[in-house]
Order: sequence, then C-alpha cells, then structure tokens
Amino acid sequence: MAFQLKPETVEKIDRMIARYPQKRSALMMVLHEIQEEKRVISNEAIEWVAARLELQPINVLEVVTFFPSYRQKPIGKVWVRVCRTLSCALMGGYKTGEILEKELGCKMGHTSDDGSVTLEYAECLAACGTGPVALVDEDLFENLTPDKLGPVIAEIKKRAAGGTPTPTKN
Ligand code: FES
Repeated sequence: MAFQLKPETVEKIDRMIARYPQKRSALMMVLHEIQEEKRVISNEAIEWVAARLELQPINVLEVVTFFPSYRQKPIGKVWVRVCRTLSCALMGGYKTGEILEKELGCKMGHTSDDGSVTLEYAECLAACGTGPVALVDEDLFENLTPDKLGPVIAEIKKRAAGGTPTPTKN
C-alpha cells in the first residue's frame, strides 16, 4: 500500500515547506512530523519525503541515518529513554537502566516481546542538574534514583497496558 499520512499532517508539512526559499531546508522538520505520526521513518516515508522536497531518496536517507533521533525500526507502545551522559551516569543512570530492564522485562536497546515497551539509553536530555533522568515518550522524569523509580515504572506499565500509543515528537 502506498505511503499515506493523515491529511492534517500533509497540510502541516506543506506549510513548513512553504516557509523556506528552498524546499530541502524543511527536511528535518518534515521528518520529525512524519515520525510523530508514524513513530518510525520507513523506506516508503523516505521516498515520499524525497519526492515532496525534490530530492533523491539517498539525500533523505543520509539525514535519517546520521541523526539518532530518527527511527528506522518500529518502537513499542511506550518509548523509554534513559540518559547515560556524564552527569546522569555519575548520579546512577546505569543503575536506573538496570532496574528498568528488570522491572519491564526488556533489555536495553530492545523492544519487549509483547511490543509494549522499547527501552534505550540516550545521550544528554538537557536536564543534567536533575539526573538521572529519563524520557517516557515525551515526558521527562527527573531524579530517578532507585528509591524514586516506583511511580515511573507504574506510569510506564499503565501506558503500556493502554490502547493508544502516545505520539513521539522527536
Ligand atoms: S547528562 Fe543527563 S540530561 Fe544531561
């Protein structure tokens, strides 16, 4: 089936493109918009974007593969990213990651067997003073020392059991 986006997403993308003298300048914003709707940048999406911006698919693929915020593999219903950069690592980010792995039944860098959770390490999430921190979808949770993880784990499990995936924004 041909690649399709919601009409409102296409309208938003067209407005973005119109803001730039050169269509290609909108590339990253367009990719973010597509990822927000689809949660992944598929090969079909890459071809669609290339056609829309009058680029070659390889031009789009280069950007998608360069920036880690773009995803080429599908993610689970809940996307959990634990910061492992220096400040958070010193405050126990890796320990936080280990506990989440155990509690969620999912190894770092993987999606749980039932597809409910994707767990990953991430680089600095711009909240270095309140580490360890983690993003659950687009919500930032701070000061995630082991004794404060309970409510976060409960929130992840609640979202994982829910029906509708939370759109990703990055
Ligand atoms: S080091 Fe973790 S948010 Fe910056």
